[in-house]
Amino acid sequence: MLFPQIGNMGGDWNTKKFAHTMWRKGTRLARDPDGTLIKASDVTIGSAFHVIPDGLNELEHHRIEEKAKAVVLLVRLDPRDLKIQPGREDWSFDGIVAYSKICTHVGCPVALYEQQTHHLLCPCHQSTFDVADGAKVVFGPAKRPLPQLPIAVDDEGYIVAQSDFHEPIGPSYWTRLKHTSDGLNDSSEGSSH
Ligand code: FES
Repeated sequence: MLFPQIGNMGGDWNTKKFAHTMWRKGTRLARDPDGTLIKASDVTIGSAFHVIPDGLNELEHHRIEEKAKAVVLLVRLDPRDLKIQPGREDWSFDGIVAYSKICTHVGCPVALYEQQTHHLLCPCHQSTFDVADGAKVVFGPAKRPLPQLPIAVDDEGYIVAQSDFHEPIGPSYWTRLKHTSDGLNDSSEGSSH
C-alpha cells in the first residue's frame, strides 16, 4: 500500500527537519536496500536505481527517518535528451541525474520511471515529473519540481553527492514557510531551483 513516506515522521511538522538530509559532499550513492555502491559504469542508459546514502544502513538512530528524507532515484539518459537547467551545468554526469524520490505534492515516493518518455510517476495522485527537463511537473497536483541532488564521480568511479539538496525535499507547503527554511533558498511554487 502506498502512503506518504514523510507523514509518519513524528507529526511535529518541524520543517527544519526536511531542510537537511544525510547527503554531504563526497557521500557515495548506494543501492536501496542492500547498500552496495554504484559506479557510473553500472548505470546504463535507460536504467533507474533506487538510492540511499552510503552509511545509512549503519545508522543506529533515526535510520527510518533519515531514509525517508534521503531516498533518491538515479537515472541515466542519453545526454542529448537531457535539458540541463541553468545553474546546474555540473550537477549531472554524462546523462546521469539524481532526484529526490519524495513527491512534492504530499510526500509519497515517486517510483515508476517510464524510460521512453523519461517521466517519473507518483502513484498516489498521478503527479508526473519530466526527468529530462529538471523533473518539472508535467501532470497532476504537484506544484514544483522534484529537488535535484548534485552528483559527480570520484577517483574510483563511484557516484557521489556534491552536497545536500539545495532546497527542502517533499511537499511544497513546507517551502512556503520561509522563516523556517534555515538559510536555504526559498523555492516558490513553480520555481525550478
Ligand atoms: S503525493 Fe504524489 S501526487 Fe500526491
